[in-house]
Amino acid sequence: MKTILVTGGAGFIGSNFIRYLFGPGGFKGRVVNLDKLTYAGNLENLLDIEQAQKGHYTFVKGDVCDYKLLGQLFRKHKFDAIVHFAAESHVDRSIFGPKDFIETNIHGTFALLETARQCWGGRRDVRFHHISTDEVYGSLGKTGKFKETTPYDPRSPYSASKASSDHLVMAYHHTYGLPATISNCSNNYGPFHFPEKLIPLVIINALAGKPLPVYGDGAQVRDWLYVEDHCAAIWQVLRKGRPGQTYNVGGNCEMKNIDVVRAICAALEKDAPSSQNPAMKGPYAGLITFVKDRPGHDLRYAIDFSKLKRELGWKPSVTFKEGLARTVRWYLANPGWVIDVKKGSYRKWIKKNYKR
Ligand code: NAD
Ligand code: TYD
Repeated sequence: MKTILVTGGAGFIGSNFIRYLFGPGGFKGRVVNLDKLTYAGNLENLLDIEQAQKGHYTFVKGDVCDYKLLGQLFRKHKFDAIVHFAAESHVDRSIFGPKDFIETNIHGTFALLETARQCWGGRRDVRFHHISTDEVYGSLGKTGKFKETTPYDPRSPYSASKASSDHLVMAYHHTYGLPATISNCSNNYGPFHFPEKLIPLVIINALAGKPLPVYGDGAQVRDWLYVEDHCAAIWQVLRKGRPGQTYNVGGNCEMKNIDVVRAICAALEKDAPSSQNPAMKGPYAGLITFVKDRPGHDLRYAIDFSKLKRELGWKPSVTFKEGLARTVRWYLANPGWVIDVKKGSYRKWIKKNYKR
């Protein structure tokens, strides 16, 4: 692989993936990062890469739904691989406003597939890798795990839009022979995570002495994966996965939401004790507040990643305790990032630096 198009590379997982590529991944080629810079896209996530990878890294501000731009980029950069992260990614937002999810997640994936089909013709030495979620499989009861063969049963506008895009990707493989793979991953956490999602929201609220909202009774279960482990899995699938295959990626780490929130409070007590925090009048755990549940809240997700382990030798390497400690320390060490994200001030910086 010489040139990889990464879509949504200014978001949480995409930016971690680009950093992984040039770091542990040992990639020596070129990366073009196409990102629309929605509220979730932040070029501050990649400042170090911009500096260190001059000539190997290019940012393009643009929409994956924009056929004209996609065609121009294909002709100019001659991609031999695509890793497609770009999406609207937050379930709660999809409940209140599903339109953007349909546009980006479905139409955007279609535009990218169609451009790849036209520009690559019948080439088989290329790769389209689509990043998806375990949420396409629906909700589990108390037992069982999602396998690649589990029937799709999406239940939120977000998961329905991702399921739809997964079907399009496989349809392009079966119908046109596009060399495509999909990975369906469980909940990620780690550095650069936008603070609308549970783990960064709780860290940031706790440090500010604000309530820690737990939906319903907090008994819902998610399978948490440290983001760098996810990036390693994607890199394995991109290089060695079989075209036409789906690979589940999980952390082997099922936890109830309330236990995740308690674990964050405990990690913060260690690294930033509430007794020394002027915003706090008692322990962080005292901020836990049960709030109205999310409509249609899926009860439990759990991933069986034995196919990825068997075929490509991948397994998670970071325990939840270690990953959470690293994450908490990252947020403590980067208050400027948090302030910018909360104020949205990085947008001014983007406006000034990136005109198209
Ligand atoms: P994110 O919301 O942090 O980032 C999404 C990125 O896509 C942002 O940079 C945004 O600007 C960009 N984007 C949005 N619409 C675009 C468009 N029309 N054109 C170009 N760029 C656009 O999301 P994330 O958490 O990094 O998730 C990345 C991918 O991984 C998504 O496809 C998501 O469904 C999937 N996924 C996420 C998780 C998770 O726990 N976060 C788990 C499994 C799968
Ligand atoms: P989230 O991070 O939004 O990811 P997803 O919905 O994709 O799983 O939420 C993780 C879990 O935490 C989910 O069960 C909803 C719950 N949750 C809360 O209890 N409080 C919150 O403030 C948020 C954002 C999520």
